[in-house]
Amino acid sequence: MLVARLLGTTPGGAPSIRLDLARARAAYLQEDPVTSPGDVREERLDALLTAVIDQLNSTDPRLNDVMESLVRHLHAFVRETRPTESEWLTGIDFLVRTGQTCTEHRNEFILLADTLGLTTAVDDVNHAGPAGATPSSVEGPFHSPAPARENGAWISTGPERQRGEVMVVRGRVTDTSGKPIERATVDIWQADDAGRYDTQDPAQEPGNLRGLFTTDADGTYWFRSIIPSSYPVPTDGPGGELLTALGRHPMRPAHIHYRVEAFGHRPVTTHVFVAGDEYLDADAAFAVKDELVVAPVRETDPERAVAFGVDVPFADFVFDVRLLPLGEVIA
Ligand code: BEZ
Ligand code: FE
Repeated sequence: MLVARLLGTTPGGAPSIRLDLARARAAYLQEDPVTSPGDVREERLDALLTAVIDQLNSTDPRLNDVMESLVRHLHAFVRETRPTESEWLTGIDFLVRTGQTCTEHRNEFILLADTLGLTTAVDDVNHAGPAGATPSSVEGPFHSPAPARENGAWISTGPERQRGEVMVVRGRVTDTSGKPIERATVDIWQADDAGRYDTQDPAQEPGNLRGLFTTDADGTYWFRSIIPSSYPVPTDGPGGELLTALGRHPMRPAHIHYRVEAFGHRPVTTHVFVAGDEYLDADAAFAVKDELVVAPVRETDPERAVAFGVDVPFADFVFDVRLLPLGEVIA
């Protein structure tokens, strides 16, 4: 009954489920005043936590440790925030809808983790940032297998090439001592000038603005594309609903995604951000690192344009990647 009131109904009678914690709390306060004396309740909560932790009997000690920590933090969260039952159900419903929004091409849980800074926290605890290696950054929810392309290929194969600003992206993959790495794979994905990935946009050919490149003998990779623009993370699901409820904007600064792998080296998943973007200091996914910001150089030299098979003016965008050889001590 209470839940029905909180969720409301659509004109067709189906529940219309929205995140409305203020309404949930108001309803709770009206009809369910707290009755237990506080100190008894605290004792019961302590005993409850101990009872749950006593049940963690996996043969995998890591699972016991992780679950104990998770249970402790979740119980502490409940004790700190004192959710009403209606608020709790609203939260459960939010997670259910988050799962229901996931598809082969969309992972709403990753979006939530990204926009709450959790993915960056996991990245930070796993990649201390070994001296000299390219820093990692979040993968985001839009990676999918890219078509293999020759160096120099266009990854922009649709009409966005006419609309956008042409850009040559190039660089070298080396190890941390600067030695070139031949046959490294450079997996690239980016959004179009309107901020949409091929997997989000039926008007784009699958594989548009993606490419899997292999470095030359001197570690070089290069391709032609358009300068990406800043774009909003998907806002049509629970992840966007939460951003709106929190008064947050959904924008990410313009970027290109990289996943670089080479035999005998630690792979890196990262982004390169376009210098000057207005959202560099306010990324909705908290993924910007200073070393990953690159300024496109506006080129007007016709000879250089011919060398790259583009017209003037174009943007020259250089990003070198340094991989840590496996077995090296991580700083
Ligand atoms: C992305 O860059 O594709 C992305 C990253 C985090 C959240 C949403 C999108
Ligand atoms: Fe992206």
